Amino acid sequence: MASQSSIPAKTFEGWVAHDATSPLTFTTFEPKPFTDTDVEIKVTHCGICGTDVHTLRSGWGPTDYPCVVGHEIIGIVERVGTAVPTLASSTSSRDIRVGDRVGIGAQSMSCLRADCEACADGQESYCTRMTGTYNGRYKDKSKSYGGFATRWRGPAHFVFRIPDSLPSAEAAPLLCGGVTVFAPLRKYGAGPGKTVGVIGVGGLGHVGILFARALGADRVVAISRSSSKRADALEGLGADGFIATGEEKGWAKTHSRSLDILLSTVSAADMPLGQYLRLLKRDGTFIQVGAPEHPLPPLAAWSLIQKSVKVTGSNIGSPEDIRQMLQLAAEKRVLPWIQKRPMEDVNGALADMHDGKARYRYVLQNGGEQAKL
Ligand SMILES: NC(=O)c1ccc[n+]([C@@H]2O[C@H](COP(=O)([O-])OP(=O)(O)OC[C@H]3O[C@@H](n4cnc5c(N)ncnc54)[C@H](OP(=O)(O)O)[C@@H]3O)[C@@H](O)[C@H]2O)c1
Ligand SMILES: [Zn+2]
Ligand SMILES: [Zn+2]
Repeated sequence: MASQSSIPAKTFEGWVAHDATSPLTFTTFEPKPFTDTDVEIKVTHCGICGTDVHTLRSGWGPTDYPCVVGHEIIGIVERVGTAVPTLASSTSSRDIRVGDRVGIGAQSMSCLRADCEACADGQESYCTRMTGTYNGRYKDKSKSYGGFATRWRGPAHFVFRIPDSLPSAEAAPLLCGGVTVFAPLRKYGAGPGKTVGVIGVGGLGHVGILFARALGADRVVAISRSSSKRADALEGLGADGFIATGEEKGWAKTHSRSLDILLSTVSAADMPLGQYLRLLKRDGTFIQVGAPEHPLPPLAAWSLIQKSVKVTGSNIGSPEDIRQMLQLAAEKRVLPWIQKRPMEDVNGALADMHDGKARYRYVLQNGGEQAKL
């Protein structure tokens, strides 16, 4: 077990974005000051999420550069704040020890106030004062920095122990992508007796298929633009059906009223939303988790009225969702399909992610012994 050295570092090293277009450079940055409720880790792995790409290019609005993205982080605990063993906000986080293997997802803080409806309900991902793991600010105004780095530091409340049976590289994408699909699938009843469609077979979507199956849905249908991912979806991920929207003529009519739940991971706005809704049964639910940079297409009122369908969205998941998701993943062997890339190849991996080449998640790994974990 590693021991805790006495003085917290003032600077970390990582892959820093300086503007919306230049490649990331390996350099120093200033993490938040270490407090007694924080944990500090040596990063071994970090997945590349679609959100990293949107943020790096200021796709949702101006990013606060310098920025270090990456919020599917796995690493080994090197430092634990003195108040963590008695942390009031989270009994689960009290167990975190130096040497533990842990993960951090897309959120690293919320207000945790008793008068905050979201935090008091254990719905921290809906707190209006939430801090994203990167491109955010903590209460003391220091910036949050993500996992494309050699170290990460932040509040223990949002740090999760990884079950022993989950390999680190496969566990990484679960921290954001995994919980983002698991939380709404479970909330809207994906399970026995239900048919589920997952739109977009990408980082989130392929894990959505795996979790819909793990939750026991009767039938899981993968919905993709072309048939290039058909074999992976049907033979590898275990989908029961596949729709290639760009190739199958009349697909919305052929498969109309066949699904109870539709989970859309689509990351661009030019999607056939009205046709997707035709796939829903009466009282069905469409959940948008993909976050395009432009508004969604207009919607005909009749597409909602005629079948009493619901259109909703979902933001990552709460710490409790993350713990339950990791447990289910360990029990049912929900292992994302990953491709490991050395952290030094981050710019190449980002370019390939942008071009849609990931099958289905790139996981950056830091060199040396720790990357074997
Ligand atoms: N709500 C949240 O809390 C949350 C959390 C994490 C990520 N996100 C967002 O979720 C989105 C997906 O992230 P990701 O990491 O899964 O990205 P990804 O690996 O690039 O997957 C996105 C998938 O969307 C499909 N797609 C792309 N453009 C499309 C279009 N014009 N029409 C229809 N389908 C299209 C593609 O699937 P096919 O090739 O199969 O068509 C693609 O594989 C991003 O916008 C990300 O920011 C949201
Ligand atoms: Zn993410
Ligand atoms: Zn709050």
